[in-house]
Amino acid sequence: MRWGSYFWYMKKSPIGVFDSGYGGLTILKEIVKQLPEYDYLYLGDNARAPYGPRSFETVYQYTLQCVDWFFQQGCELVILACNTASAKALRNIQQKDLPKMGTHKRVLGVIRPSTEIIGNYSKSRDIGILGTTGTVLSNSYPIEVSKFFPDINVFQQACPMWVPLIENAEFNHPGADYFVIKYLEGLLAQSGKIDTILLACTHYPLLIDKIKQYLPAGITVVSQGTIVAASLVQYLENHPDMADAISKTGSLQFFTTDAAPDFDNHASLFFGKEVKSQHIFL
Ligand code: DGL
Repeated sequence: MRWGSYFWYMKKSPIGVFDSGYGGLTILKEIVKQLPEYDYLYLGDNARAPYGPRSFETVYQYTLQCVDWFFQQGCELVILACNTASAKALRNIQQKDLPKMGTHKRVLGVIRPSTEIIGNYSKSRDIGILGTTGTVLSNSYPIEVSKFFPDINVFQQACPMWVPLIENAEFNHPGADYFVIKYLEGLLAQSGKIDTILLACTHYPLLIDKIKQYLPAGITVVSQGTIVAASLVQYLENHPDMADAISKTGSLQFFTTDAAPDFDNHASLFFGKEVKSQHIFL
């Protein structure tokens, strides 16, 4: 116990992990592997997914409501395991809302950990970003990558059909191939030198086999789960007060804004294990 710390007298609470739907489970899965001792609350805003095509203001308002819900559950640390929410809502929440809600609370996203490391994968210095329309239009990736790797050229491709295909469990069926080929061609037409592609949407790891199948040899496909998990490990090492404030019984609780049985049916595909969720209204 740290007597000088803000947190020492507070009730310990789980880490909140958020996504518009199921995609954040691909991140939570890796976080739990690296930090099994902590407790986690997962919230999927399935009733309002997908976020990808929605406006900046809408994604911000929806994400803020979900973050507020985590805070009402007592969470001190919330991870936006969603690129679209990280691109469109994180900065506002960190700069405008958190100071009003209690400065000790923290909200982290998935873009920064990915952009800090992505340049290490590339020899050619041309990389590709595959994401939702919202993530691509925000330009968050080119802006953030240029801070850590100014010599890297970033090419982006929006893949608006991929989240619906994945959320509807059509990603393994032949219909998905058309849209995988279409978006990969769209990306590779922008540069013949791309040697690294980041899956900058937490849903896309479910399509990774099809994506690899249609890419020329020699291109590395990077998913975010292990990167975000390693970054959280580092964050908690650097912030021992926050690490102390998190409860550690190894528990996982799942919540959805849509029907719980539907969530449970789909979630195991993303999480790799059976999931039992509870429904909430926001
Ligand atoms: N999983 C989310 C992301 O990482 C987006 C899904 C959506 O469009 O809601 O961007």
